Parts: sequence; C-alpha cells; structure tokens
Amino acid sequence: MSLQERYLVDVDLTTVSLYTARCLVIGSGIAGLAAALAAARKGTVFLASKCEFMESNSTYAQGGIAAALADDDTVELHVKDTLEAGGGLCDEDAVRVLVDEGRVRCQELIDMGVHFDRTDGKIAFTREGAHSRRRILHADGDATGRAITTTMLEQAKRNPNIHLLENHFAMDLLHENGVCYGALFLDTNYGRYMRVEAEFTIVATGGVGQVFRETTNPACATADGYALCFRAGAELKDMEFVQFHPTTLYLAGAPRFLISEAVRGEGAYLINQAGERFMPRYSEKAELSPRDVVCQSIFKELNSTGDTCVYLDLRHLDPALVAKRFPTIGKVCADYGLDIRSDPIPVRPAVHYMMGGVATNLNAETTVKNLYAAGEAAFTGVHGANRLASNSLLEGLVFGHRAGMAEPEKPGPFPSGRPRKSLSANGARLDVGDLSASLKAITWRNLGVYRTAIRLTETVETLKAWSRYVLAEEFHMRPGFEVQNMLTTAQTMAVSALLRTESRGAHQRVDYPYTDPSWQRHSSVTISDFEQ
Ligand code: SIN
Repeated sequence: MSLQERYLVDVDLTTVSLYTARCLVIGSGIAGLAAALAAARKGTVFLASKCEFMESNSTYAQGGIAAALADDDTVELHVKDTLEAGGGLCDEDAVRVLVDEGRVRCQELIDMGVHFDRTDGKIAFTREGAHSRRRILHADGDATGRAITTTMLEQAKRNPNIHLLENHFAMDLLHENGVCYGALFLDTNYGRYMRVEAEFTIVATGGVGQVFRETTNPACATADGYALCFRAGAELKDMEFVQFHPTTLYLAGAPRFLISEAVRGEGAYLINQAGERFMPRYSEKAELSPRDVVCQSIFKELNSTGDTCVYLDLRHLDPALVAKRFPTIGKVCADYGLDIRSDPIPVRPAVHYMMGGVATNLNAETTVKNLYAAGEAAFTGVHGANRLASNSLLEGLVFGHRAGMAEPEKPGPFPSGRPRKSLSANGARLDVGDLSASLKAITWRNLGVYRTAIRLTETVETLKAWSRYVLAEEFHMRPGFEVQNMLTTAQTMAVSALLRTESRGAHQRVDYPYTDPSWQRHSSVTISDFEQ
C-alpha cells in the first residue's frame, strides 16, 4: 500500500457545491494572473488563491524582470547568459521561448500600465549577477513584483470572464485515470468544501520556501502545487535544485528579508567582519557572479573567518541613488535600526527559489491530461541547475500565458463521486506547529547548501517515517493540509538530492564535489516510485 495519499480527505462530492468553468487557475502570482488573463479571452475562468490575492512570492519580488529590450542587448545574449548560469542543465528550446516571448509579454505589461522606472523617458535597466548587460526592468525602485501584480490583478478584476476566489485552499485535484477534471477546495471564508470542474486546470501555486527554516518566501509558500500534482500522478523533475539567495537580512528576530541582487548590480560590495571585500578572491565576476557561486563563496568565507554573517556595503554609493533605487529595503532595514547609506547590512544566504517542479512541456502541459503548471510550481527547463536572476517573473509571465492559451479536448464531468484517501485516519494527536518546525529543522540541516549521502539518507528515512502517520491523518484546517503538502514535497526533494551523485549549480554534494557529465540530465520522480 502507498505511503502517500492520493487525496487528503474523504469527501462525498454529492454534498459539495459544484461550479463549472472553462479554465481553473490555482494561484494568483504573476503566472496565475497571466494564465487567467489569457484564458479569459476564450471563456470563463475561476482564479483561486488560498489567501489574499496580493499575497504571493511574485508580489515580494524586488530586483525586477529580465528582458532583452535595451538597445545594446539581444535575444542571443540573454539566451547565452541563461544557459551559462544554468550549469549545463537548461533546455535550450524552453530558454529561447522564455527570452523571445518575454520581450513581447513585457511590452504588454507596459501597455497594460505597469510603470517601469525610467531615466529621461527611457526604461532604466539595472544589472544583476551573471547578466552580461543591464537588462532588468524595475518599478518603484525595488518593488517590481508588487507593481506588476497590482496592475495584472486590476485587469483580472475588470474582466467579466474571470471569477475570483480568495481564501480558497486547493485540497486536491479531481483526477481519475490520468485525467484532471478540476479541484476540490476548502473555502476558508466559510469553512466549507466546494469544487470547481473545468476543461483544464492550471497550477500556479508558487514555491517551497516554507519547507525550510530560513527563507525569503512569505508564509504562503508551502509547496502545495508540487504535492497536489504529485498526488494526481504528475511527474516532478529536478526537485533537488533549490536556489539560495546569497543576501538576506541576518539579524536576530528579523525575517530573512531579501536584500535584492540589484543592490550588488548597482555596485554594492560584499565584505567580511574585518571590512575586507572578499568576492574577488573567489570569482572573476566578484559580486556579480552567478548566485550559486556567490552563496558558496560566502560559506567558504564564513568557514575561514568563523563568523556567522557577511555584510553588504553601500557606503561608497551615491546616497541619493541608494534612497531612490531601494526604498523598500531602506525602510525595512531602518525598522531594525540600520541606515543602508551608512551601515553595512548583515546578510547570509537563505532558501529563495525552486528550480525543479511539475514537469511541463513548452505548452505548460504536465504529464496528466488537462492539467497544466506554470511559474515556480512548474519545471519548464529554463533554469537548469542555477536560475539567472530576474528570469523567474519572466518565466511566470511567458509560460503562464502559454498555459492560459491552451485549448485541450474537454474531459467531460468528473466520473468519480468520492475522492478517497488510501489510508484511513489513525487518530494520532498531531501538533501541526511542532511538525512544521521539525520539518524545517531537518531540511535546513540536511537539504541545505551542502549535502551528503549520510544526511540525505537520514532525511529520506525520517520523512518516510513521519509520513506514515502524518499523511494518514485527516485534518480539517489549512495548516494541517499545508504540513502534509510540505512533507510530501520535501520527500521528493530529499530522494532526488540523494539520487544525484554530483555537484552542479545549487546542488552541492560534499561527497561528490565534481560535476559528472553522465549526470547532465534531469532527475524525475512520480508517486509510483514511492509505491514500490
Ligand atoms: C532579487 O531581487 O535579488 C531577486 C530577484 C530574483 O530572485 O530573480
């Protein structure tokens, strides 16, 4: 018998309100919004978010969105930078779609009314690590994601074909024999179940940050989409590749708030406790090296000095530029007593972005019929082993749009009356807060920047043991379901990380420190692997 649950709850669907739409989109970040706006051209759309619509990783994106729009830039250069950063694991066809269509989609954002920052009337591009050109569009200084999602959400609200469901948690996809028919929701406004049946369903639920103790991600990033699709039988790819952001605020009691890579793009240095700039010792591109290189360099520096953090130093930059470009970062740091124009900012790497995900083709189709995925939840192949900075909003925009434009064959009504858990609840008393803390602790310790077979094996075994009773439990509130999703997703990550016996990009194995050409391929995991 499976240790994974096909469904989280046993529900008699005849007792649950039914809504129908042409398209169901789960998630309200940039990918979900792009998908909904595209799908609404051809029919009704339900756009559901488990929390408030503006609460997504996209909203908190600071640095910007990369697009080859500057006069001195080309599609070829952006493709080249993306492939180089990806450590040999990017799928070039997908990268070409990303970069090429990205230009069109960004122009559409401008036409929609997103006010990207300008100098003398022309778009002001900034630079980030591993980009050979200044090609990052930004808005309101360092509040790019908020500017984009606000505008897109306004468009969605005005669109008569789009029905918005806030505080609707997607419990499970309705699926049978490899076909998806929609999803079952817990409407947390009223504490009741409801279901939406749709011709096609798009999962755009964001990333995994909350699986780890230290993350830049908001509380909603609980890995739901990976687990939803995994339970429905979809293939997940490259789940071992999770990206750490090199510079997150490191102060006792403060969240691991992102200090954008654009800060280094505008010239900030990384210094150690002794005030020495150390990145040039580790890499030719210094502070503007790819993210994996900067993270590893910071850890090497910390190991050699014995310190717990390094610092971002902006003191040599024009204070007026710093205030104009980084108002959000300046405000948050000021809340903790730091003036970023005169105080070095204490920073340390933290989990930021999932590069693996639900396997999709160039049209955002998953391996389950009528089921699509886009954004951070999806694996499109564009990021490889290490995502190029600011390619993530772009990916959500481009592949969200592609998903929304789908025209799949209609699946008909959901044939099954009752989603079934494969194990019955065992009545164990579970402390969800303790489970979540225990999970975050083990992933942070064993699935972090440096990994070993011993630690990964321990993680796989421990998570498997916890799953036996945690997944059997039938919770009634969102936090319980989220813990189940995080546990399932963490298992897929640990299994994949153990399997990949090499170091590449963000996946660093202390026991396999070199890149192995025979591993220049994607890892894959499905629920049937767990059932053997
Ligand atoms: C940042 O502003 O550093 C984050 C941008 C990204 O993750 O691509």
